[in-house]
Amino acid sequence: KVAQAAANLGVETYVVGGYVRDLILDREKKGPKDIDFTCVGSGIELAKEVAKQFDEHVPLSVFKNFGTAMLKLEDWELEFVGARKESYRADSRKPVVETGTLQEDLERRDFTINAMAIALNAGNFGELLDPFDGLKDISKKLIRTPLEPNITFSDDPLRMLRAVRFASQLNFDIDADTFYAISQNASRLEIISGERIIVELNKIIQVEKPSYGFKLLFASKILHQFFPEMVELQGVDSVDDKSHKDNFYHTLQVLDNVCQTSDDLYLRWAAILHDIAKPATKRFNKKVGWTFHGHEDKGARMVPGIFRRLKLPMDERMKYVQKLVKLHLRPIALVKDEVTDSALRRLLFEAGEDIDDLMKLCRADVTSKNNRKVKRYLE
Ligand code: CTP
Repeated sequence: KVAQAAANLGVETYVVGGYVRDLILDREKKGPKDIDFTCVGSGIELAKEVAKQFDEHVPLSVFKNFGTAMLKLEDWELEFVGARKESYRADSRKPVVETGTLQEDLERRDFTINAMAIALNAGNFGELLDPFDGLKDISKKLIRTPLEPNITFSDDPLRMLRAVRFASQLNFDIDADTFYAISQNASRLEIISGERIIVELNKIIQVEKPSYGFKLLFASKILHQFFPEMVELQGVDSVDDKSHKDNFYHTLQVLDNVCQTSDDLYLRWAAILHDIAKPATKRFNKKVGWTFHGHEDKGARMVPGIFRRLKLPMDERMKYVQKLVKLHLRPIALVKDEVTDSALRRLLFEAGEDIDDLMKLCRADVTSKNNRKVKRYLE
């Protein structure tokens, strides 16, 4: 029907991106199913023409500002866009969009495996267009940018995280030049909003064996950028021949183990965070060796700050903190039935800017006795 609509309008049309990649990989995608169509013309006009090909009403959403349109068909979302060349300003993700050819459209995409197209035109229906050797990279199990990696990543720094995400999901390697560029540009992730980062990070966490992704994040220094507490876990100290385990690799082992038994995202996060305060509480005692006294409570109190650094909006942050409470990570020790006055003062003092999070938690989880104490502290 799309090919028919394209023929009616006389516009070259192609299936592009993730759908082509997954078709070649014979990969069943979890979550929403989408197909992206690119035409050399107006995506919005094409979508309208496609809708006309159906007897029944097909819901159509038009996003004029972006020049895109979407049709909902059962559990499929069909996205239509005109081919474009795009360049991004260095300080923003907002693209400057100009009409382009299919080749220009494909070359501005993130990775070669996502830069293939299948033609829907009468003259070449079903033909695979693969100007950047995506097919070869699929057989080599390689994530590689179509253009020089610095160009692709400066167009959109989030792609550095996407590289690790696709490597984790597909169990691919990242090409050496692409990986080197990531390690050089990791700090540019700074301009990306927290909502977009957490989506990619959670996709890395939700694969079968997330340790691989975390090792790539660590080695490329992306992790240093937004999750330094986890980086701190790495390394082993020795005094008088006494050493402790490497808590980074231990955490990854626990995470992989949890993943074998549960798909629950928050349980996976709890595994990631379970030893997070060990570096901060580490002490050496001549008699007993290394100790990490109080790391559970301290770790729990670090959680809101970690999600704040990930730039999650307040309500999202609360969702994580509360879910983690339910999973007994005790992000805030206040959830105990009753807390002594001094412990409560310490908790509230340390909460600092996170006082609002605490107050919400209090309302949700804390006994009325604790609530009265919180009120007294605030007064
Ligand atoms: N794309 C890109 N750069 C981005 C995001 C997307 O070049 N930062 C392009 C890629 O060609 C990608 C397509 O847009 O294949 C669609 O993006 P998206 O839906 O985010 O990813 P998919 O490849 O479809 O994979 P998934 O649905 O698993 O996220």
